[in-house]
Amino acid sequence: VPTASVSRQSIEANHRVFKGYQMEATAVSTQAFAGQKPGTSGLRKKVKTFQQPHYLENFVQAIFDTQATLRGGTLVVGGDGRFYNREAIQTILRLAAANGVARVLVGQGGILSTPAVSCIIRKYATQGGIVLSASHNPGGPDEDFGIKFNVASGGPASESVTDAIYQRTTEIDQYLTLASDPIDLDQIGDSQLGEMRVSVIDPVADYAGLMESLFDFDAIRDLFKSGSFRMCFDAMHAVTGPYAKEILENQLGAAPGTVINGVPLEDFGGGHPDPNLVHAHEIVELTQGAEGLDFAAASDGDGDRNMILGRDFFVTPSDSLAVLAANAEVAPGYKAGIAGVARSMPTSQAADRVAEALGIGCYETPTGWKFFGNLLDAGRITLCGEESFGTGSAHVREKDGLWAVLFWLNLLAARGRTGRQSVATIVRDHWGRFGRNYYTRHDFEAIDSAAAEGLMHHLRLLLADLPGRQLGDYKVAYADDFSYTDPVDGSVSDHQGIRIGFEDGSRIVMRLSGTGTSGATLRLYIERFEPDPERHDQDVQIALQPLILIAQELAQIETRTGRAEPDVIT
Ligand code: G6P
Ligand code: ZN
Repeated sequence: VPTASVSRQSIEANHRVFKGYQMEATAVSTQAFAGQKPGTSGLRKKVKTFQQPHYLENFVQAIFDTQATLRGGTLVVGGDGRFYNREAIQTILRLAAANGVARVLVGQGGILSTPAVSCIIRKYATQGGIVLSASHNPGGPDEDFGIKFNVASGGPASESVTDAIYQRTTEIDQYLTLASDPIDLDQIGDSQLGEMRVSVIDPVADYAGLMESLFDFDAIRDLFKSGSFRMCFDAMHAVTGPYAKEILENQLGAAPGTVINGVPLEDFGGGHPDPNLVHAHEIVELTQGAEGLDFAAASDGDGDRNMILGRDFFVTPSDSLAVLAANAEVAPGYKAGIAGVARSMPTSQAADRVAEALGIGCYETPTGWKFFGNLLDAGRITLCGEESFGTGSAHVREKDGLWAVLFWLNLLAARGRTGRQSVATIVRDHWGRFGRNYYTRHDFEAIDSAAAEGLMHHLRLLLADLPGRQLGDYKVAYADDFSYTDPVDGSVSDHQGIRIGFEDGSRIVMRLSGTGTSGATLRLYIERFEPDPERHDQDVQIALQPLILIAQELAQIETRTGRAEPDVIT
């Protein structure tokens, strides 16, 4: 016998369905916009660009026009909560309904971190997902917005898919949409939009469950219970606030207030939600001095990046990958060992040394998480990482900020069983065992695009003459413009950055950023290998100074860009 409340619900549901059938897809004429070509990680433009009539619609329609499996399929939609997130989601929902998508899973409040989208796509075997984010770029009416399509594996679309979407944007002349009231994104539950079911879901639950399956939550709880371990997680007013609060404070028992800046804001509180030493300086300060915290970490706008700090100690992303690879078996999810590791080309070679010692596969890929996808799918690698504060594994197909934090907590908890070890001790021990790869990145931001292209062209012309040449104390072993052949599908990606390798294993790498939205950004990456533990405590910039000068001179950075100093050093 149906209860009153059930029957009222079903009447409401019928009413919605009835209303749904009134909604008919309409075709709206449009004109192609130039420049809707996705970069390293989706289409990123100023909010004002996205707010132009039809701009977002064109791009979304191009996704539906080229991704046939979405018709009749399920799509995940969510974003990092930045300005324009909610409007964009309403637009996407209408287009999805008009294009015959059967069901959309959307995060409550429009919130889903990038790794959570990947997790949900995989868990529910959906046909793909749309992530609304410009990652670590600032948000707000005058700042950046972005949209990225992820495929059924949970990973970012490959270049062939993004090329097809882009191609479609150049010829598009209409899109399909429905006239409808906005969906209530704040209420968990199902509703109907035309014939499409919209399920507003808890953005955290599935992801938190996955983390619990990978890490030793009991050991981490004990670490917090000990009372002598103090940490802070800076969510930077971006998407990870609700995730970190639930997992760290509610489930693992970290002290209330462990998560700072935990409420997602449309403008990230006016800051850059980028977890590096410059933008996350608040936690850098909290870890300094004798009273400093034992551990601190931060994540970026959409939750895929991470920065790891110990007391008076910064773990470079390159070292973080190497340390996690060397210690993976402490985490239950990786107890059986790892199949292999991969790093992006500019990432230091620290992980290569671990792979060699473990006798596992090691891959060097172009910058961009999507290049790890095939290696992960094929089971060739388990862990992967990038110098750009990205670390991750086969658990999803995106890099994952909180995952890295939990992995470090698991490692600290495991080492704590035999006398507490600090972050610094763990990393120094690692260097003692494998040697240290001194590493730095210098960014020259918003430089003139033509000057930047000119600089890269100039370097390419130099390449052939470099091998065998002595530059200061360093002899060039090889010099090339990195080209990657994917070992799984054989696809080739050329012009992925200049590599100059020296006989002692040191490297200079230069490439132009693929994520900026104004002018060009030149990135200079410098690395030197130091086997001698007696010499593992030098200042990084001083240890690398000779190579930095060689790079500046070779590339004629100052004369070509007008910049004597980088804007950001990490
Ligand atoms: C995004 C991608 C990363 C990539 C980074 C590079 O964050 O998700 O995979 O490493 O961009 O950015 P860049 O500005 O150096 O091209
Ligand atoms: Zn990001």
